[in-house]
Amino acid sequence: MELIRVSPENNIYDELSALDKKCVGSDGWSAESFESEVKKNNGIVLCFLDNTNVIALLSGYFAEGEGDITSVAVDENFRRKGLAQRLVAEFEKLLPDSTENIFLEVRESNAPAINLYEKCGFEKLSVRKNFYINPRENAVVMIKNCSDKFLKE
Ligand SMILES: CC(C)(COP(=O)(O)OP(=O)(O)OC[C@H]1O[C@@H](n2cnc3c(N)ncnc32)[C@H](O)[C@@H]1OP(=O)(O)O)[C@@H](O)C(=O)NCCC(=O)NCCS
Repeated sequence: MELIRVSPENNIYDELSALDKKCVGSDGWSAESFESEVKKNNGIVLCFLDNTNVIALLSGYFAEGEGDITSVAVDENFRRKGLAQRLVAEFEKLLPDSTENIFLEVRESNAPAINLYEKCGFEKLSVRKNFYINPRENAVVMIKNCSDKFLKE
């Protein structure tokens, strides 16, 4: 199993999209969305490969002192092995030193993900009413403050 930062040379946008849609249904991103995130200067897309299969992914970006995690998904056969936690930690390492906070939104009912983020040091900040559609649901906005800067070992 190998953790990589996805680059255009990998050309695995269809595989990333398939895993995302399998894990989060209609909230899942298209291949084109992953491609655009990978090609942005401030985009970070990470994944675990098992041989050539994408089994876990994280996408996010940074801008003006903030990091933002937009998607995390792990194939159900590979869950509870710490892969998501390792992806979040790697994302943090790749953020610029000027990053003060990391933000993310998560469905209010998604206890596994909320537990994951709390374990990674995020706290609940606020609720965005009806942020999600299909099904309609509130989002919990979570924040991790990193003004001390990450311990980049
Ligand atoms: C949420 C998700 C990404 C977690 O991935 P994972 O690789 O299984 O997570 P990890 O193994 O790194 O778990 C780290 C911690 O998160 C919490 N956690 C993860 N899955 C959990 C679950 N099903 N129930 C409760 N807590 C859970 C635990 O605290 C866990 O630590 P522990 O195993 O030592 O108890 C995965 O379940 C998933 O892909 N779900 C569907 C997609 C999704 O909801 N993505 C998030 C959208 S915001």
